[in-house]
Amino acid sequence: MTILLDMKGWDPHPWIAAIKRADPERQVVTAVAQENASAIRYAWVWRPRTGILSNLPNLELIVNLGAGVDALLADATIPTHVPIVRALDPNITMRMTEWIVLQVLYHHRHIPAYLEQQRQRIWRALPQPAASAVTVGILGCGALGTSAGVALRHVGFEVIGWSRTAKEETRFKVFAGGDCLPSFLGQTDILVCLLPLTPETRGVLSYGLFRQLKRGGALAGPVLVNAGRGAQQIDADILRALDDGTLWAASLDVFDPEPLALTSQLWAHPRAFVTPHIAADSEPEAMSGYVIKQIRRHEQGLPLDMTVDRGRGY
Ligand code: NAP
Ligand code: GLV
Repeated sequence: MTILLDMKGWDPHPWIAAIKRADPERQVVTAVAQENASAIRYAWVWRPRTGILSNLPNLELIVNLGAGVDALLADATIPTHVPIVRALDPNITMRMTEWIVLQVLYHHRHIPAYLEQQRQRIWRALPQPAASAVTVGILGCGALGTSAGVALRHVGFEVIGWSRTAKEETRFKVFAGGDCLPSFLGQTDILVCLLPLTPETRGVLSYGLFRQLKRGGALAGPVLVNAGRGAQQIDADILRALDDGTLWAASLDVFDPEPLALTSQLWAHPRAFVTPHIAADSEPEAMSGYVIKQIRRHEQGLPLDMTVDRGRGY
């Protein structure tokens, strides 16, 4: 019942230590060799090396150590008969909620303007609408979008969402499907993107979409907040929209490619706020505990949470 750990750009040591604390009996390896290939039952991965999962005869489960599976599904060598689960523990969900609430309040409470005023020693109050006068529209009402939306409602914002399929029970109004998108956008002051990257969502954050956002709302103009994936946004369209007033401001955590090119004008744009893909990091301790529980469920023959639908792409 060995675990193979393969993560691009992450230090495996804290993960190995956390797995050992959660399940001291479990063997963990970070490389596949002839002697251990048949013992590996579980692969815990984040952007794994191409081909590493293709020759594991007893692999039972692939665990993606993050919410987005776009990089994993892009690898044509991953075995198609092995189920994939996303390790979406409450820790990562709350981290994303923190980041989204922070960005929404950052723009709503004029923090960029007050930072500039402080720099210039200017004492001036800016007009401040109530949160209830502002509608946050969330593209993608899955685990992360729903958590962020519920928190934003607690702060007092109007919240609406958009998903692919209609929901029977929701904590706020959710529009479903492409036909409803214009109506959703037309009510949105602050647009939050928490969509997975799929062929349908690639490039969705375009100038044409920004033009459909609500005009004349309580803020100086529409705001974009993207923590989904960089390939969902067209950087040139964001810059154009910021410059001509189609967007008032943008908070961006994700880029394509990453890191954001040093030459990108987004770095220095006065109304763009850039963070280096840190909205919701996977934390070894919390996530390992969660995944070990999932593995125990699997070993007891119980259904798993957060199974990925390869056909859908998320
Ligand atoms: P999730 O639970 O799978 O939810 C995805 C949501 O997007 C669902 O509501 C889904 O609709 C909707 N959706 C998918 N394709 C759509 C389409 N074509 N049109 C309309 N709606 C569509 O995903 P999650 O766990 O919330 O994570 C979302 C994404 O956040 C991840 O895929 C990842 O890219 C990103 N993320 C970023 C960071 C970061 O640090 N920046 C961290 C974690 C995650 P249905 O409900 O109808 O299926
Ligand atoms: C991070 O980007 C994730 O998908 O968990």
